[in-house]
Amino acid sequence: MKRKDADVSPPLLEFQSLSVGYGDEPIVTDFTTSIPAGSITTIIGPNGAGKSTLLKAVYGTNKYFGGHILFEGRQIEKLTPRERLALGIGFVPQGRCNFPLMTVRENLDLGAYTLRGSAIQAAVDRVLGLFPMLGAKLNVLAGNLSGGEQQVLETAMVLESGPRLLLLDEPSLGLSPGNQDKIFATIADLRRHGLTVLVVEQNAHGALQISDTGIVMELGRLFMTGPAAQVISDPRIQVAYLGGTPA
Ligand SMILES: Nc1ncnc2c1ncn2[C@@H]1O[C@H](COP(=O)(O)OP(=O)(O)OP(=O)(O)O)[C@@H](O)[C@H]1O
Ligand SMILES: [Mg+2]
Repeated sequence: MKRKDADVSPPLLEFQSLSVGYGDEPIVTDFTTSIPAGSITTIIGPNGAGKSTLLKAVYGTNKYFGGHILFEGRQIEKLTPRERLALGIGFVPQGRCNFPLMTVRENLDLGAYTLRGSAIQAAVDRVLGLFPMLGAKLNVLAGNLSGGEQQVLETAMVLESGPRLLLLDEPSLGLSPGNQDKIFATIADLRRHGLTVLVVEQNAHGALQISDTGIVMELGRLFMTGPAAQVISDPRIQVAYLGGTPA
């Protein structure tokens, strides 16, 4: 279900002429857009367009070249990932299950590493409430969970720190259609719990359907942005990403 007031909410995150990349070269250049608080925004685009590079820039794990990233109006582009996490930015990178030989319980303890004392168990209990499936598998090795379950575990670990902005890179990659639907339902549910979600997805249709806003990136630049319903119905997007045929 989409929130009707998403367009009028103040931005939680803003990109202002941002350029970021690796080594000597920016990959994403002159990128400007804003993400309203309480919204779900999906970024689509061809392989190599710079989608992951943009998400990594919000968390601060690649090289900054110029422009600004504002979180709640505050410039964050010079902050470390740890400092950004403390501000409320959580990042689930592309790929999943960093600790396959540890149990679900051990992974969840690890996800609470920024917390102390009783806050640790409170955070674990909170994410087990969100994802009861994990509670039934606490002693299972994370690597033995299904792909979809591993994705949920990774997301749960990031959510333990209590972020307000959740960055998800290809959460449905490699999942069965049924598990993809579950991941999208989970994302919609997280928004209902007050999170703002910025997601990169190859399943353009599934992700845009639960989103307020769509962003299309090509060659490191913003190609198009608008309400998700408008992006889904754009003939160029239909042909390039949604299996439509040229008119
Ligand atoms: N660590 C890195 N060092 C150098 N170049 C990189 C690095 N990571 C990505 N790149 C380059 O940056 C460009 C954009 O990559 P990015 O991963 O952002 O694309 P993407 O849009 O996420 O693609 P995909 O849909 O395949 O995940 C690519 O040309 C890639 O080779
Ligand atoms: Mg990527």
